[in-house]
Amino acid sequence: MTAPQLTDVHPAWLPPEAFRALGSRRTVVQGTGLLVETVRQEVADAAARYGGSLRQPTTGADEPTEPDDLVLALTTGATVPAGAAAVLAELAAQTGQLGADGFALARRAGVTVVLADAAPGLLYGLFEVVRRGEAAFGAGFPVERHRPAMRLRMLNHWDNVTVDPVMGQVERGYSGGSIFWRDGALTPELSRVRAYGRLLAASGVNAVTVNNVNVHAVEARLLTDRLGDVAAIADELRPYGIRVHLSITFAAPVTLGGLPTADPLDEHVRAWWAKTTRQVYDTIPDFGGFVVKADSEGQPGPFGYGRSHADGANVLAEAVAPFGGAVHWRAFVYNHRQDWRDRSTDRARAAYDHFAPLDGQFRDNVILQVKYGPIDFQVREPISPVIAAMPATRLAVELQVTQEYTGQQRHVCYLGPLWSEVLGFGPWGADGPSVADVAAGRTADVAGPPVGGGGLAAVSSVGDDPFWTGHPLAQANLYAFGRFAWNPRLDPLAILDEWIDLTFVPTATGDPDRLRRTLHAIMDDSWRTYERYTAPLGVGFMVRPGHHYGPDVDGYEYTPWGTYHFADRDGVGVDRTRATGTGFTGQYPAPWSQVYESLDQCPDELLLFFHHVPYGHVLHSGSTVIQHIYDTHFAGVEQVTESRRRWAEIVDLVDPAVAARVGERLDEQVRSATEWRDQLNTYFFRKSGVPDAHGRRIH
Ligand code: GCU
Repeated sequence: MTAPQLTDVHPAWLPPEAFRALGSRRTVVQGTGLLVETVRQEVADAAARYGGSLRQPTTGADEPTEPDDLVLALTTGATVPAGAAAVLAELAAQTGQLGADGFALARRAGVTVVLADAAPGLLYGLFEVVRRGEAAFGAGFPVERHRPAMRLRMLNHWDNVTVDPVMGQVERGYSGGSIFWRDGALTPELSRVRAYGRLLAASGVNAVTVNNVNVHAVEARLLTDRLGDVAAIADELRPYGIRVHLSITFAAPVTLGGLPTADPLDEHVRAWWAKTTRQVYDTIPDFGGFVVKADSEGQPGPFGYGRSHADGANVLAEAVAPFGGAVHWRAFVYNHRQDWRDRSTDRARAAYDHFAPLDGQFRDNVILQVKYGPIDFQVREPISPVIAAMPATRLAVELQVTQEYTGQQRHVCYLGPLWSEVLGFGPWGADGPSVADVAAGRTADVAGPPVGGGGLAAVSSVGDDPFWTGHPLAQANLYAFGRFAWNPRLDPLAILDEWIDLTFVPTATGDPDRLRRTLHAIMDDSWRTYERYTAPLGVGFMVRPGHHYGPDVDGYEYTPWGTYHFADRDGVGVDRTRATGTGFTGQYPAPWSQVYESLDQCPDELLLFFHHVPYGHVLHSGSTVIQHIYDTHFAGVEQVTESRRRWAEIVDLVDPAVAARVGERLDEQVRSATEWRDQLNTYFFRKSGVPDAHGRRIH
């Protein structure tokens, strides 16, 4: 196997230059197996380019003629190379396993050592050495143990095999076509799939789904007669430790199996799932499992047969259990045909109402996959109360890397700070377990038996675009997702620094400090900037219906989708209190059930999610709601304009193709942010009649 070399595709965070420090060293790799061979090949390629060497470990007397600079070895090997022996002894004296994906890293006596109990850990250790560059070979440091917080670190592709007439090749895709599928067939560019796997492994991701959660007719057949295509993708991703999962349709026993029903309690249905799943594992022995969107936005599910979601998930879980597979069952279930006139129905309540009563009823290989917020990946939402409501269920938290509601990769919007807030949030208060702890399975101090974690999942932003993510700066979000799944406590700005150093390698950049400063100026606060010029104070949506790009304040107001803001001449916001509203605040445990219920305590940024208030309501910030809307919208556009100006200052430091693409997208961001500002400010001025305190231009 050789590492993929793509000439017309941007190298993202793995340009050859990122391997210079490693590639100029003498390295030995000890161990056997597919992923160890991947490590060996990475080292060999880097050494060939930068003048280092890859030494084959000798058996017996293991003394190289010249000492190694870097030793990568499995602890299970018969002999560990000489330079690593002391580190191995030190490691053995410590308690705790490294686990399949973990590794130990140390530098002593001029040798950098990576030790892992299993091959995936060795691969992750290699990429940690790459990330550190020269620092990995500088001053010595004692043994560091690295283990991922989440066992499952999964990207979901919403890719269609055939081009969907409404949603295209990739649903909510903003980066060209699919990297897996093209016009109904498997992509002819499998080397691109391999290169994708390599990028993902370097960020920490270890699982992908290859098709959309909305499973159409052709895509359904990936489970059966098109399984060979899935196997071909699995073959490309396997050398990088990435397992393939499949989105399946709950109706498959009927549509593919010809049975009269898909009732999960029907014996023939159970048998069909068992048989079909066995064939999947015969073809792809390391297949990860199924992802299911059921009874959601028109997808079939157990409700159609009068059965519960636990019944539905369990029949699939039973089928994959003998093979160690998992079922990711999505909690995104709500009524998308509600009557906007009915103020008692609240979409935010739906997932909790459906799933919380089922806690404890799912098999242990079912993972309930919960979007981080109760609505749908808005720029600001409270944490989904489901995350705190199911201590006896394995939960995965779902994020959205594809920027459906955060600028569709036309706007710079670095999501690291959002995800850091989400993952660090304490659903039981600041002293209790965090959202990340729940996803990692560490809920020990919550009542009930401890269950495993479900990990972190996210909707991928990748397509066949030469920059992978459309906007070159959106690559940082993809990178950050993997890093947070590995360690949710990482500082989002430190992750950004890692990404900058890998992508724009300092030794190959004219003025790395200027470049870094400017990228930080553009990206650090870009999520909050996006929030400033779009829907205010947590109220959400206000996007154009259908494609969800650009402003349309009332676009969803009188539709069946359940996403309303209720603005009138007096005020705006959704009353979700127990006292006078939908009662949604009651789905939270203390302290949040009280904090969100209380107009005084509710955080400003979520005020309109929980309360309907007059325009003159004074925020904690001291501003009124209406003045806050004006101020943030003017400020947001100023910040985007400033980012556009700052980018022009560094175009000499980056590849001209990157410079052009980012510049063109920033132009569009300025245009779009201005449109948001003008529409939002005008809308609320006309509704409220309250002028801007600063007399700025409102139309
Ligand atoms: C959003 C998105 C849909 C997607 C859905 C989901 O509503 O707009 O395209 O199918 O989320 O998560 O299933």
